[in-house]
Amino acid sequence: MKVLSLASEAYPLVKTGGLADVVGALPAALAAHGIETTTLLPGYPAVLKTLGRARVVHRWPALLGTPARLLAGKLGAQPLLVLEAPELFTRDGGPYVAPSGQDWPDNWRRFAALARAGADLASGAVAGHRYDVLHAHDWQAGLAPAYLRYAPGPGPVAKSVVTIHNIAFQGRFDADIFPHLGLPAAAFAIDGVEYYGGVGFLKGGLESADAITTVSPTYAQEIHAPEFGMGLEGLIAARADRVTGIVNGIDPAIWNPDTDAALPARYSVRTLPRRVANKRAVESTFGLDRGDGPLFCVVSRLTWQKGMDVLADSIDAIVAAGGRLAVLGSGDGALEQAFYLAGERHAGSVGVRIGYDEPLSHLVQGGSDAILIPSRFEPCGLTQLYGLAYGCVPVVARTGGLADTIIDANVAAIDAEVATGVQFSAVTPAGLMGAIHRTIALYRRPERWSAMQRRGMRADFSWASSGEAYARLYGGLP
Ligand code: ADP
Ligand code: GLC
Repeated sequence: MKVLSLASEAYPLVKTGGLADVVGALPAALAAHGIETTTLLPGYPAVLKTLGRARVVHRWPALLGTPARLLAGKLGAQPLLVLEAPELFTRDGGPYVAPSGQDWPDNWRRFAALARAGADLASGAVAGHRYDVLHAHDWQAGLAPAYLRYAPGPGPVAKSVVTIHNIAFQGRFDADIFPHLGLPAAAFAIDGVEYYGGVGFLKGGLESADAITTVSPTYAQEIHAPEFGMGLEGLIAARADRVTGIVNGIDPAIWNPDTDAALPARYSVRTLPRRVANKRAVESTFGLDRGDGPLFCVVSRLTWQKGMDVLADSIDAIVAAGGRLAVLGSGDGALEQAFYLAGERHAGSVGVRIGYDEPLSHLVQGGSDAILIPSRFEPCGLTQLYGLAYGCVPVVARTGGLADTIIDANVAAIDAEVATGVQFSAVTPAGLMGAIHRTIALYRRPERWSAMQRRGMRADFSWASSGEAYARLYGGLP
């Protein structure tokens, strides 16, 4: 079986969040099931640079009105295609935002072009390319199933799957872009790409795809309700028989404390005490006083989704409870400022690094005692899985994938020796502090604590079972 995976990011080429980790890791997991996955990415400067001199496999004189070429490369051991369209993708800044922090005003055209290219590949418009399934990730790839449905190429049309990594980002644009998309008028309909009078990229994909997945079973349920569905709950409910939740895995080649080059001290379940050298390294990197008390950490986008405002409001109480905190993150300016000020207020107890730093994120997980993830919603979440693998006990809000992957250390779970972390419900300072007090109490029972760390490290969150679930889904498409 041949799958075309369409996304706006993929680790290690371009990453702003968990989407990249998943798109980067899934192809290898699927290969184990005899599935060859080709990934199609936009030709951002960083991607073109790693590609070097690549073979040109196709040219469009005008793709969404601009010349484009398709270049062939490799993503790990799997095939990669890169959409080179200088007018759309050759620019400084992030994949979605200009250096000013504002969304690129032509994002609709950039990602419609990506989707059109994917649909051409998956419906016989590009010689030598044929796919059984087009797998579109998030709104940036969302129009591809709509193109396959309303304006396919001349060949056999692939089945399509849309995976929702975060329904909060929907790719919603004004109706006046519609005539430029190259879709027939019939597509501007309630069961097509029309969305509250405008155009919805994710919406169009969800209406048109043969199957819809999201990245955890609990989130798949949650998005049936307005609070989580964010306007798409009606569509999700109407297509409920096509919606499944498959939890993300982690790539053990990248996230393994026994082989991780970013750690001063590597360790495993059997050599856990070595971890303390990493704790010392986190303390010195974040300017924290040395100590044996609990060291909490954060590795996160600093946003409302992640409950980072609630955490910022709780810092004084965390320090008063005897906790120290290392924060690695970037995001909302006001939250960055709040954390920065907390670091000044609690010098020695709270250390803050504003920015995005991949190796440092490994050190933080490999040296801190517990990772705080107070998300208001979390489709899957990967940092709690990395925390488990690194013996950095996850303290999480009970939502989405966090609810599905962490076993709360309640009395029954402690008795049954199955707890892997701490969960709490209300994402408020009181809710979070309740969990932090419970965590500190557990930490003060070293045997219990290290048993919980070891249990998390042994838990299997590799891609094996989720890879199989995707393989089964592809194989069963109507
Ligand atoms: P989301 O995709 O919603 O941001 P996830 O938990 O799925 O949340 O994935 C976040 C990914 O981004 C993880 O790989 C995490 O380690 C990484 N990450 C987040 N913030 C930073 C940061 N400041 N520096 C390095 N890595 C980060
Ligand atoms: C999104 C979600 C996150 C998920 C990631 C990968 O960014 O916010 O919960 O883990 O996608 O699926």
